[in-house]
Amino acid sequence: MKNSIEFSEKEGGFYWGNIYWGKNKKVAEFDAKKFKEFINQSPEEIKQACYKEGRLNHIIRAEHFDLSFLETICETARAARKVAKLEDKSIKKLLSSKSVLNFFAQPSQRTFLSFSLAEAHLGMRREEVRDIRTSSFSKGESEKDSLRTISSYFDALVCRNPSDIYDLFAVWVMKNSDREIPVINAGSGKREHPTQGILDYYTVRESFKGELEGRTFVYVGDCARGRTVHSLAKIMALHKGTEAYFIAPEELQIDEETEKYIVERGTKVFKETKPLKELINLADVVYMTRIQDEHGGEGEYNQDYVFSLEMLELMKEGSILMHPMPKRDEIDPRIDYLKKHPKVMYWRQQRNGMWARVALLAYVFGVDEQIRKHYQRMKV
Ligand code: CP
Repeated sequence: MKNSIEFSEKEGGFYWGNIYWGKNKKVAEFDAKKFKEFINQSPEEIKQACYKEGRLNHIIRAEHFDLSFLETICETARAARKVAKLEDKSIKKLLSSKSVLNFFAQPSQRTFLSFSLAEAHLGMRREEVRDIRTSSFSKGESEKDSLRTISSYFDALVCRNPSDIYDLFAVWVMKNSDREIPVINAGSGKREHPTQGILDYYTVRESFKGELEGRTFVYVGDCARGRTVHSLAKIMALHKGTEAYFIAPEELQIDEETEKYIVERGTKVFKETKPLKELINLADVVYMTRIQDEHGGEGEYNQDYVFSLEMLELMKEGSILMHPMPKRDEIDPRIDYLKKHPKVMYWRQQRNGMWARVALLAYVFGVDEQIRKHYQRMKV
C-alpha cells in the first residue's frame, strides 16, 4: 500500500478507506497515517493484536479462527440452545453487568435482531445506533473520535459498516483507547462477515454431525461481493480435503486473494460459469446468495444460477441447501412451503444465528465454559 493518503473530499470533510476522518485535513492526515501503520503490519501481527490473554478478543476476520475456537463456539451454542429449551433461565444473568452497543451503519434484519436477542439471553444492557446521521459527524467529529467515545461507555461493540476495512479501523481505535473493548464485526464492506461464517459453520456441523472433512461446497451467485461466501470459504478451508465450487457469471466470480488463501490451505477450487443444474449432484452444501446490487450493477441473475424446486431431488442424499438471507428470486418460491424438508436449511440457519451469537458473546466475556458446564450438570 502506498504511503500517501489520497483523501476524497465531500461536504468539506475528508474520507479515506470509506471512513470519515473529520473536517481538518492536517488532523485527518495525522490520524489516517497512524491507522495505515497499523494495517500495514503483517496478517500475523494483526491477528495477534486481536488476541488478549491467549483468547480471541476482537472477532473481526474468519482467517483468525481455528478449529479449536470454532469447536468451543459450536459446543457453547448447542448448550445454550438446550438450556433455553428446558426453560432454564440460569444463563440470563451471566452478563448482566455488561453493556454493548449495536452500531449498524448498513441495513440489517437478522444480524441485528439475532445479536440483540443473544445479548438479551445473556442479560446484557444494550443500545443501538442504526442511523449514523444521529452521530456528531455533522459537527465535524471524526469516526475515530466517535468510536473512542463509544469505548468510554460500553463493554463491547458490535458493528456493521460499508467500509471493507472498518473492522480493522475499529480495532485500531480500541487499541489506542485507554479502554480497549472487544470489537465484533457484524459485516464489513464486501469482504468479511465472520459471525455469519460462524453460524453457517455451526449449521453445517450440526447437519453433518461434525463430519466435515472432504465435504464439497457449491457457492452460487455473487461470489465476488457476497461477504458471507468469503468468510465461510475461509473457515471451511480449515478442514482437510474440502472442495469449493464457485458458480457465478465471470463478473461475479470469487476474487483471487480469497481463492489463493483457501487453495494454500488445501481446498480444491473450481470456478464455474456452467448452470447450477450441471454441478448440483456434487454438492454436500449448496450455498445460494443474492446479487449484492447495493454495490452497483444489475439486480437479477440469469436462470442458470437460480435454484429450482426440481433441484432438491437432484441433490444427493443428506446434502443441504443454505442461504445467508436476505433472498430474492434466486430460490424457487415453492421451496419455502415445504415444511421441515431435510435438505432445506436456510430458515434453521437463521435461527442458529442467535445461538451462535449467544456463544460468541459468552466466549468474548469468558463465561462460555459456565454455559457448557451448566448444560452438562442438567444432563446428569
Ligand atoms: N445474513 C445477513 O447478514 O442478513 P442481514 O443483512 O439481514 O443482517
